[in-house]
Amino acid sequence: MKIGIAADHGGFALKEIIHELLKKQGYEVVDFGATILDDTDDYPDFVIPLAKAVALKEVERGIAICGSGVGASIAANKVSGVRAALISNYFSAHQGVEDDDMNLICLGGRVTGFASAEELVLTFLKATFIGAERHLRRLQKIKELEINRDKNGEIMERE
Ligand code: RB5
Repeated sequence: MKIGIAADHGGFALKEIIHELLKKQGYEVVDFGATILDDTDDYPDFVIPLAKAVALKEVERGIAICGSGVGASIAANKVSGVRAALISNYFSAHQGVEDDDMNLICLGGRVTGFASAEELVLTFLKATFIGAERHLRRLQKIKELEINRDKNGEIMERE
């Protein structure tokens, strides 16, 4: 399985640990940066290229890490075809894939301990989408929103 990973300075230390873990577990890892710890870098610069690679299926799943995991999650979910979530518990790490076909996990490098983060990532990667009719129905509704948004260039937010 080919996995993409990205982090800003808030997630950099955890990214390095997860990267090593995945290599040891036999995963092929594509690292979208940051490549150095730079306190002035911005998470969208790493998370958006990763999210696009997930959407284009250049990597099978993605892992995005910032300080809290919030910014990474917001950025990743702007890319159509990406189903990202900030995960901090075991249940959501597998159920998010099983029911919602989550293809990108977001973690908070400053809030989730290294050992917990490793377990969450491995749980996420081993989980598979169940694909029951109800799951497909729900995802179709999200896909329709994305199709309309991409077609119309709709602005959903109020200024
Ligand atoms: C960067 O200092 C921090 O704001 C960022 O990593 C993240 O927590 C955003 O959600």
